[in-house]
Amino acid sequence: MNDKQLVAIHAAKYVKNGMLVGLGTGSTANFFIEELARLQKESNLKITTIASSHISMMKAQSLGLNVIALTQVSEIDLYVDGADEITPDMTLLKGRGYDLVLEKLLAKASKQFLVVADRSKLVDRIGTNFAIPIEVIPFAWKAAKRSLEAAGGVGDLRQNAAKDGLSITSHGSLVLDMSFDKSISESALNQLINNIPGVVEHGIFHQLTSAVLIAGDGKIEERWK
Ligand code: A5P
Repeated sequence: MNDKQLVAIHAAKYVKNGMLVGLGTGSTANFFIEELARLQKESNLKITTIASSHISMMKAQSLGLNVIALTQVSEIDLYVDGADEITPDMTLLKGRGYDLVLEKLLAKASKQFLVVADRSKLVDRIGTNFAIPIEVIPFAWKAAKRSLEAAGGVGDLRQNAAKDGLSITSHGSLVLDMSFDKSISESALNQLINNIPGVVEHGIFHQLTSAVLIAGDGKIEERWK
């Protein structure tokens, strides 16, 4: 069993009967979805789920989990998802996929948000390994980019995998992948990007995490807020 699978199975121990559970997106979250489906089948676990992406919804449904839409609820008991980067104060970088709007809504709506990852995701500061994905309304991308550049950001629109077009998110937005100077704190950067007109959402998840569950060399470390 690899570290991602180990930590995902560990996180499933926090799921109790009757809960509404948020499902993340990515390879670690997939292991969590598979474990929930196994517990439902083999241990008679009774839960309802809500997915952070179309791909996770399809996976959960194919495994027999009951998935409802965010339009039906305003609060979630537990959300379990991966991350692309995790800082010592539990700020996250997320959204390298195309669903960060939904991911942030689930994180905010959850009573508890558990992040599951292997040690490769631990960084000293956001932006160490990846640029910050910033979803922008298509007609506002130039204006938003100019504002981000004025704040010291460097980057451009994300292209699709074939590099013959632009990436379009699940919500029809474009994505600016921007890097910033190391001297700007995560908190300041979060605030700065939040305040730019035309930005739909961005990948910095600040003060939303309840705990990070980290796996390394077959062991789990839990860090709670
Ligand atoms: C999805 O948009 C991201 O926020 C994921 O949570 C992230 O990419 C984690 O993926 P892995 O679990 O595959 O590393």
